[in-house]
Amino acid sequence: MGNQSVSQIAASSTCKSYGNFKALHDVSMEINKGEFLTFLGPSGSGKTTFLIILAGFTEQTSGQLMKDGRDISALVAEERNFGMVFQGYALFPHMTVWQNVDYPLRVRKMGSAERKQKVGRIIETVGLTEHDHKKPSQLSGGQQQRVALARSLVFQPDVLLLDEPLSALDRNLREQMQSELKRVHEETGTTFVFVTHDQGEALAMSDKVAIFNKGRLMQLDSPDRIYSAPDSRFVAEFLGQINIFPVTSPGMDGDLLRANLDGTTLSAANPGNRVNSTVNIAVRPEHMTLSSEHPADQTNILPARVVQTTYQGSHSDLMLQTPQGRTISASTHSANGTLPSVGSELWVSWSPENSIVIAD
Ligand SMILES: Nc1ncnc2c1ncn2[C@@H]1O[C@H](COP(=O)(O)OP(=O)(O)OP(=O)(O)O)[C@@H](O)[C@H]1O
Ligand SMILES: [Mg+2]
Repeated sequence: MGNQSVSQIAASSTCKSYGNFKALHDVSMEINKGEFLTFLGPSGSGKTTFLIILAGFTEQTSGQLMKDGRDISALVAEERNFGMVFQGYALFPHMTVWQNVDYPLRVRKMGSAERKQKVGRIIETVGLTEHDHKKPSQLSGGQQQRVALARSLVFQPDVLLLDEPLSALDRNLREQMQSELKRVHEETGTTFVFVTHDQGEALAMSDKVAIFNKGRLMQLDSPDRIYSAPDSRFVAEFLGQINIFPVTSPGMDGDLLRANLDGTTLSAANPGNRVNSTVNIAVRPEHMTLSSEHPADQTNILPARVVQTTYQGSHSDLMLQTPQGRTISASTHSANGTLPSVGSELWVSWSPENSIVIAD
């Protein structure tokens, strides 16, 4: 944790074209030593492309790539000392777990005593000591994934790149492997760059999340900021359900942004410098409070009628509609009492602190 703000990798203005198609536009980012960074974005947004450029498996069209202050743009993959775990883990089927993990050290012509010690230690870290004599076909999916992880960590890479390593696993195993990966990350102190298109996985696992869309880096921030302070409509919507109100006549009142929605004044805290004529106020469904009486002590209040309710176990999702025909999504914890019935008229309110100001 102590060296977590030391920049290890710095990419500046990375571009990648395949013929006329631009797969990456001007991506710049810094990756700190020891960090767990996740690339999140829709299919085709450029996550794998950027990862294999870091690894040196493909060349960037333009841009500069630095590692520890040194330009590595021209280095081939073997000279970069990055480990890589792919989606299909491609273990050698005729080799045992031990031999699979030993393989990268043999390739590096390391002596047998040192190999034995390193292989034994990393197999223990991933919890496979009892299975080290087995062939991949005798292992479960999660165990095979652990072998792939051990094999990519055994030579102590400076950075481990993981491209959707958990996507082939079922949900339970996937959650188990998520916490395993986090533990291995903490134990080894290696920088992890992890790709997923699962929002929950990205928020749960990472120190930082980088959101990609159409070959651009949209935002790189802590999971908390990505979720609660998205700086674009795309990031706000990609991280889950959100109400986006296109307000008019915005203006500042002290630290609050005030703007109009269908004749009601809404207030939002922390607008940053996004106050212009095409601003939106966005609110996550879980920040909506529902009340049957007018909540006089609240700032942002809209009347609404319940259109649909969906019971989800720990919470319920509600769809409401304002008299002007605007749809509002709200979610309520099941612990907070009975669910309002469809057709009931109530008040929806939220605090200025839970309002996100987004420019269009
Ligand atoms: N070798 C290639 N030749 C031409 N186009 C390519 C090539 N590799 C990738 N692309 C294109 O570049 C874009 C980005 O691809 P990339 O594999 O980086 O996406 P991704 O974000 O990893 O998506 P996914 O989540 O589906 O894995 C896509 O539109 C893809 O079709
Ligand atoms: Mg990919």
